[in-house]
Amino acid sequence: MARILITSAIPYINGIKHLGNLVGSQLPADLTARYLRARGHEVMFICATDEHGTPAELAAAKAGKPVEQYCAEMHEVQKELGAGFRLSFDHFGRSSSLRNRALTQHFAGRLADAGLIAEVSEKQVYSHADARFLPDRYIEGTCPNCGYDKARGDQCENCTKQLDPTDLINPRSAISGSTDLEIRETKHLYLRQSALKGQLRDWILSKTKPDADGNPAWPVLTTSIALKWLDDGEGLQDRGITRDLYWGVPVKKGTEDWPGMEGKVFYVWFDAPIEYIAATAEWADAQGLPDAAWQRWWRTDKGAADVRYIEFMGKDNVPFHTLSFPATILGANHDGAEPWKLVDYIKSFNYLNYDGGQFSTSQGRGVFMDQALSILPADYWRWWLLSHAPESSDSEFTWENFQASVNKDLADVLGNFVSRITKFCRSKFGEVVPEGGAPGPREAALIDELTTRIRAYEANMEAMEVRKAAAELRAIWVAGNEYLQSAAPWTVVKTDPEAAAAMVRLSLNLTRLYAVLSAPFIPDAAASTMAAMGCDDWTWPTDIAAALTLLPPGHAFTVPEVLFRKITDEERADWQARFSGVRT
Ligand code: MF3
Ligand code: ZN
Repeated sequence: MARILITSAIPYINGIKHLGNLVGSQLPADLTARYLRARGHEVMFICATDEHGTPAELAAAKAGKPVEQYCAEMHEVQKELGAGFRLSFDHFGRSSSLRNRALTQHFAGRLADAGLIAEVSEKQVYSHADARFLPDRYIEGTCPNCGYDKARGDQCENCTKQLDPTDLINPRSAISGSTDLEIRETKHLYLRQSALKGQLRDWILSKTKPDADGNPAWPVLTTSIALKWLDDGEGLQDRGITRDLYWGVPVKKGTEDWPGMEGKVFYVWFDAPIEYIAATAEWADAQGLPDAAWQRWWRTDKGAADVRYIEFMGKDNVPFHTLSFPATILGANHDGAEPWKLVDYIKSFNYLNYDGGQFSTSQGRGVFMDQALSILPADYWRWWLLSHAPESSDSEFTWENFQASVNKDLADVLGNFVSRITKFCRSKFGEVVPEGGAPGPREAALIDELTTRIRAYEANMEAMEVRKAAAELRAIWVAGNEYLQSAAPWTVVKTDPEAAAAMVRLSLNLTRLYAVLSAPFIPDAAASTMAAMGCDDWTWPTDIAAALTLLPPGHAFTVPEVLFRKITDEERADWQARFSGVRT
């Protein structure tokens, strides 16, 4: 048994997330957390809302609410939707928590002690029309790197380059569109991450191969983005970590005031990843546990040396998690007194597109988490999203594809197997597992195939190869169906009831096994299947033959409700039309 810390990129507070956001971090993180728990490991699964910065301020203003209230309300909304999708966080925190405030100020103090913070007089963009400084992402313009004309002042969405607002060509206010902008002088703190460049490069290069602790090489998507921003052009640049805003963590050096920084807050990208740690502290607080309880996940001198830390995120988040956050973590340990846990494995995702275009929060395009749950239960979405996760390239959601996957994989393969065998048993033997004779060569062949496939499924889950794991699980379901089809107990029962009973007994046991194996992907269907089998033994199967004898003859079960219903052509057309435009 190992200890595994899992974090999902923390979603911005400003609005409900779409399915592309969900499949890019929270959902695959949940899949992995559920699987590793099922294998008996001790898992800490952390997420939170990312609450600071201009986007939150503007969204609150638009909603006509004080930003504190807006964030508190939206946090609850996101938390509920996470629960609706069965995201099994140990804690879903808030980056505006007091824990994060204190830790962010603490890290800033440590970095200052290390000489890694520079005070810089900087020119910042002031918008006359908006009567305010325009931070980073509220300035739009043309990317100097790739020419994309809607690049934001913090990052170009198109080429992922981290930018400063003053890098943009033809800048304009994203709030008002005004180009009446003025550059004003103001003092800010910079994280001298360039000083850690060598250390960061060595660390990232070490991740291009499997490591001594058994972690596989990082996905090329992760390391290539990191190395690109480490070495390209002028290379790793120092980052401004303060802003002239109201809503954020007030700038302090540990617990002390920072002269010249009055009224300023830390940049949202500085405090957000620190929330991974703070949310674990919030978890301990909520459990009434002492600091040691969260520190054993995060401090290698306090029990975290044997923790394996895995992060999940979309590709646009990779630079912050491979460069800026590690710079914070490493820099805070300049004197060896605070060894914080560095990430061991970063699983990053490409984008999910929507029906011929992009999902877009700002344009309200696509299907959002609340809408998805209003039309179908979580498992339908979980299955489609995970089995089509954008791993090796971008992938696309279409309603046709969604309908086909649900109807084939879930209804025709898994659902059909469960319903067919339980109903057949009820009609011939009653709602108890029949005894029957000894298994024959057909059963042995099935057990062989299942054993091979389950081992492959495990290997893919360990490697976090989400699509491959889904494909293997589907093949495991198919194997059961094909067995039933060729064994045909409904024919055999007429001449050899003993043999038919043996087939039924095996198949009912396989139904229970499907619940165990499928639970990380489709937890609700797994739970109702297990309940129908009159069982609550979720033990992961090692010996498959043995696992298929767990429900003994005479064991009572019930025929479950329809596990998955089919999506009709009318529904598909209706949803396609309903979600073709822009969310209002
Ligand atoms: N809120 C960011 C996004 O949705 C992710 C922040 S992840 C963390 O892209 F590093 F800040 F934690
Ligand atoms: Zn660009």
